[in-house]
This record gives sequence, structure tokens and C-alpha cells, in this order.
Amino acid sequence: MSDLMLSKRAKMIGDSPTLKINALARAMKKEGKPLIHLGGGEPVFPAPLSAVEAIIKKAESRKIKYSPSSGTPELKAAVAQYTLQNYGREAGPQNIIVSAGAKQALFNFLLAAVQEGDEVVFPAPYWVSYPEMVKMAGATPVIVRPPKGKLQVSFEDVAAAVTDKTKAVLLNSPNNPSGLIFGADFISRVVRLTEEKNIFLLMDDIYHKLVFDGQTVPNPYEFAGNAQHLVIVNGVSKLYGLTGLRIGWAVSENKELIAAMGRMQAQSTSCNSDLSETAAAAALTGDQGCIDELRTLLQQHRDVLMNELAQIPHVNVQKPQGTFYSFGDFSYYNPDSQALAQYLLEKALVAVVPGAAFGMDGHLRISFCADEESIVQGVRRIKQALENISKKEG
Ligand SMILES: Cc1ncc(COP(=O)(O)O)c(C=O)c1O
Repeated sequence: MSDLMLSKRAKMIGDSPTLKINALARAMKKEGKPLIHLGGGEPVFPAPLSAVEAIIKKAESRKIKYSPSSGTPELKAAVAQYTLQNYGREAGPQNIIVSAGAKQALFNFLLAAVQEGDEVVFPAPYWVSYPEMVKMAGATPVIVRPPKGKLQVSFEDVAAAVTDKTKAVLLNSPNNPSGLIFGADFISRVVRLTEEKNIFLLMDDIYHKLVFDGQTVPNPYEFAGNAQHLVIVNGVSKLYGLTGLRIGWAVSENKELIAAMGRMQAQSTSCNSDLSETAAAAALTGDQGCIDELRTLLQQHRDVLMNELAQIPHVNVQKPQGTFYSFGDFSYYNPDSQALAQYLLEKALVAVVPGAAFGMDGHLRISFCADEESIVQGVRRIKQALENISKKEG
């Protein structure tokens, strides 16, 4: 199709680099190449039985219909229970909207809250979709960059980026890709800042229970004077390994905002998948032991990955406190992370995601949600391929 036929918006929006890597990895495996995929964003965990049984029961009822646009009462009740248990806050049906993944919840928020001329402030490294989503909503992403050699910004850096045009601050903790948690002092000050400036604080909490070494993430509600500014996004993709259900949600005491997000959804996708909502409600209300199992396994995988990465000279990596990603500085070998990731894909047959996609070139995101053998062999292959670069240069 001629480029002339496309909207300005379409021309402005890039591909999702992580989804592209997944597609490439799938294609290479299909061709029979012994690829190791350390670029993924989903746990290799089977779906919880509660969700599977609910899907079967629902399918057998032969009633798979449109559901209420902003979520079924059962799923909203399950989200309310989750919110009370994890954040200590009551949430009614008007405070909750269920969407097709946390991704659509974030997008609904942006469509409902920002417009041309507005700015949305978020720190680097950031999840790949944030800048593109903000642009799709017509606003301008304002990226706060950490000092050289660091993976986290300070409160002062965030505060300095907030202007009259800022409509929201967006935080993801623990963070994809760094795996680091924003501490209580930082969160409390950002909560107060957003209240003072009368703007939103959008918390992408999709990994909030996948944190290691007995740590927890600070609860922003604890610091809120006026929780109307706070919007929490979460979902079943990461905690329950149910990426394929496509169920996430947003919770806010700001009912007008939730209603506006509901209008965006009702006029675009009508409603969520009936089957998926049933399964998500079952996962949320079923046995929660699967989250502890996943967290324990991921912590072991993190330790294995850290051990292996420590064998590669000149790589600087901070131990992830949560998620299933590490974000090491590989710039000694090649400051161009896209070229380095391409080299590793071709020469080592290992898929990783270039740091440039997360706003920090020179880094590579290596996931530890794969099985242990893949992590060990994958990093050993990377080490070998990097040694070849050093030899060529040396
Ligand atoms: C930080 C972050 N937010 C949101 C999402 C999207 O999650 P979902 O599958 O619920 O749309 C992801 C998925 O990778 C993510 O890493």
C-alpha cells in the first residue's frame, strides 16, 4: 500500500521490538535452528489449574457471549478482593475497569487522560511500549534519564521534568527491563508531587509480586493524601503466567477517569473475552500458591543467570530485585546494542533484546523466565561470541 494512504499517526509509531524478537525467535526455531530465546517476556509456567478448569466449564456451558464492557461482576469482585488484600484499599465496580491485558488498560488511561500538547513523564529504562503509546494518544513522552552508570533516576530528576504541560507520571516497579524496585522514599515523594501538581500517577504494577529476597514493593496508597490522582494497573499475565488470556485492569478512586476509560473501551473493543474473564476470575480467587512457586523459581533462575554473567569480563549488571529480566551494560563489546543483539542472534543463536528499545543503548535485556538449562547454555554461548569480538579486536 502506498505510504500516502497511511495516517500521520501510523507513520509515527514503530514496531514493538520485543514482539518482533519473539516472532523472529519463533521463525528461527521453526526453521530448525537451535536458538536459545532469552528475550522473552512470559514465564515458562503451566497455567494454574483453577483457570484451566474454569475455561473448560465455561466452554462446556456453550455460552460464550459478549460480556459487560468494563468487566464481569465476578471478575471485578475478584479484582476488588485483590486490591484490598494487596493495597489495603476498598474498590467498588465503578473504580475498576478490566481490559485486554495491562497494555490496553494503560492505553485506555492515556486515551482518556491526555491529549495533544500534554506530556507524560517516565524514567528510562522504560517498557518499550510507553513512548509509542503516549504518542498514539497524541501527547509527548518526556523521558527522565538516570546518570551514567546507573539504572535508576532520583526523585529530583523526575520533579525537574514535570512542567505545566505534564498530565501524568508513569512508573513501573519492579521495572522492566532493569528488575529494580523504586524505594518507599522515592514513591512517597512522587505521590506527593503528583498531588501538589494536580496530575495523575500511573503505576504499572504488573510485576509487583514477583520480587525476591523477601522484599516487597512500596504501596503508593500508604502515602496518598488524595488517592484521586492514583491509578494502579495490573493483570494476570505475569503473576499467573496467563499471558494468552489477555486480561488486565486499572483501579482508581477517580470514578470519572474509570468511566472515561470505559467509554474508550466500549467504543473500540466492546468488551473483553468472556472465556478469558472467567478464567482470570478463577485464577485470582483460586489457590495462590502458584505465585510463590513462580517467585521461588524465578529467584533461582536469577541467581543462575547472575552466576553465569559474572563469568563474562567487562559486563556490568545489577542484581535484579524482581521481574524476570536483567539489564546489563555490554557497551565494552559494542555500544550499539541493536548491532550487538543482531550479532548474538546470528553468531551465538541467542535472542536477547537491545537496550536501545528501552531507551538505554549499550545494554542488553536478558530474561530469566526461560528454563535453567537455556539460561546457562545461552549465556555461555554469549560469552563465547563476545570473546570472539575481543580476539578480533585484540
Ligand atoms: C511493564 C509492562 N507493562 C505492561 C505489560 C503488558 O502486560 P499484559 O500482557 O497484561 O498486556 C508488560 C508486558 O510485557 C510489561 O512488561
